Amino acid sequence: MGSEYVLKDTDFLVSQTDEKGVILFANEDFCKIAGYTLEELVGKPHSIVRHRDMPRAAFKDLWDTAKSGKVWTGYVKNATKSGGYYWVYATVYPNIACGSGSCGFMSCRRKASSEEIAEAERLYKTMN
Ligand SMILES: Cc1cc2nc3c(=O)[nH]c(=O)nc-3n(C[C@H](O)[C@H](O)[C@H](O)COP(=O)(O)O)c2cc1C
Repeated sequence: MGSEYVLKDTDFLVSQTDEKGVILFANEDFCKIAGYTLEELVGKPHSIVRHRDMPRAAFKDLWDTAKSGKVWTGYVKNATKSGGYYWVYATVYPNIACGSGSCGFMSCRRKASSEEIAEAERLYKTMN
């Protein structure tokens, strides 16, 4: 199971990936909450924080959307290094400076409300 870290209103998690989803950068809130140092994250696939409860279809939708140059938003349950988890409301978008997706992607995440989390849990149980 692991324990939940409930985000504070001011928590704001940022990460940047290459076009394959390999982490290039993560900000302090991301590192602190996921439980990794920046050095441990850089160069790793973003699935390092994947939680097994997340349906594959959610990530397919994320990738299809971001690769087509659009902004994806959604609720994501992530795993921490120590086996805990945290829910976020994520916005993923392509860096369009050099064409959609070819400079990689960014994600910004903030707190999701307990009602939003309950709804996402209900929905994700029906997927995959
Ligand atoms: C900018 C960006 C941010 C992402 N953030 C997360 C995340 O916080 N948690 C997560 O599990 N996957 C995230 N992903 C999706 C992963 O790249 C990956 O597709 C997902 O973890 C599923 O793993 P798999 O593709 O190996 O099945 C992100 C992808 C991108 C491009």
